[in-house]
Amino acid sequence: MKDDILKVLLTQEQISARVAEMGAELAKDFCDKNPMFIGVLKGSFVFMSDLVRCTEIKCSLDFMSVSSYGRGTSTTGEVKINKDLGQDIAGRHIIIVEDILDSGITLNYLVGYLKNRQPESITLVALLDKPSRRRAPVNANLTGFQVPDEFVVGYGLDFAESYRNLPYIGVLKPEIYAM
Ligand code: IMP
Ligand code: MG
Repeated sequence: MKDDILKVLLTQEQISARVAEMGAELAKDFCDKNPMFIGVLKGSFVFMSDLVRCTEIKCSLDFMSVSSYGRGTSTTGEVKINKDLGQDIAGRHIIIVEDILDSGITLNYLVGYLKNRQPESITLVALLDKPSRRRAPVNANLTGFQVPDEFVVGYGLDFAESYRNLPYIGVLKPEIYAM
C-alpha cells in the first residue's frame, strides 16, 4: 500500500496536533451546549473518532451516509442519502464533520437537508479544504488544512475504497489512476 504513495502531504504528527487544536476550539465554543456531531460516512470516520476524543465536553454523535450524482460530468447538486440520522436534531446544535470540502456540492445539499429539521445551529467542520475546486456556495466554519488540487488518500479518505487505513495523508502515484 505504501508503495502506491507518491508523497506524504500531512504526517500523523501534523494531523494529530491540528485535530487537538480543533477539538479544543469546539470544546470552548460548545461547552454547555451539548452539541451533536454528525459524521459524513465513510471518509470522516477516522477524523470523527479523533476529533470527538479531543473535544472534552458532553456531546452526542451520529452518522449519515451520502453520495453525490454526476460527479465530474453534469453535476446537478443532487445528493443521495444512503443512511439517515437515527435521532431528532430539532433544537440541537449540530456539528457536521467531513473529511474534505471539495466542490462543496455534498455539504451544500446536506446543510439544506438538515436545516429543514430545525436544529438550533449548524457548524461545518472539514479536516481538509480544496478551495480552488469550489462549485457550490459553502464554506467550513472550521478547517484543518488547506490542500492543493491533488487527489489525496489516507486518514479515512479513499481511492476506489482503498487507502482509508493509512495513518497519514498522501498523494497517490499517477500510475495508480491509470490502472
Ligand atoms: P464535494 O461534494 O465535491 O465537496 O465532495 C466531497 C467528497 O468527495 C468528500 O467527502 C470525499 O469523499 C470526496 N473527495 C473529494 N476530494 C477527494 C480527494 O482528494 N481524495 C479522496 N476523496 C475526495
Ligand atoms: Mg466524504
